[in-house]
Amino acid sequence: SFSGKIDEAMIRRVVDRFYALVREDEVLGPVFRSAIPDEKWQAHLGTIADFWSSLLLGSGRYNGRPLPKHLALPDVGDAHFRRWLALFRTTAEEVCPPAVAALMVERAERVANSFRLGISVHRGE
Ligand code: HEM
Repeated sequence: SFSGKIDEAMIRRVVDRFYALVREDEVLGPVFRSAIPDEKWQAHLGTIADFWSSLLLGSGRYNGRPLPKHLALPDVGDAHFRRWLALFRTTAEEVCPPAVAALMVERAERVANSFRLGISVHRGE
């Protein structure tokens, strides 16, 4: 199975690399920099690694509700989601074997779509 090749260290490499790119990105950087102060970044990376570990390895370390956090971000729209997914794909393909990258991208797309739907319902669009 795919998950045989995924471990915590691989997840952590994806997360660290992805958010390093995100913070430098023209489209996403400003959103993340204003929502997450520098001293909170390590905690954020830990939360995100927990999220992926729960999703892919069933570790149960994340049991938060991510949608409300995203509903609260002002002015996040299609361009942000397209950029997020493009950077995530690049990162996963760089860091992981192809089958693992494909699985992570597929899961990310599903979560992104559910956030986009939630955001449009929330905004009454
Ligand atoms: C948290 C931005 C897409 C998973 C956050 C936070 C920001 C953010 C700023 C921190 C919120 C806070 O602590 O107040 C964005 C933007 C996205 C995006 C701009 C795309 C346009 C995604 C996607 C996923 C994801 C696609 C999952 C595949 C999470 C998780 C958290 C989080 C798990 C932690 C929520 C918690 O504290 O429990 N995001 N995000 N995000 N994001 Fe995203």
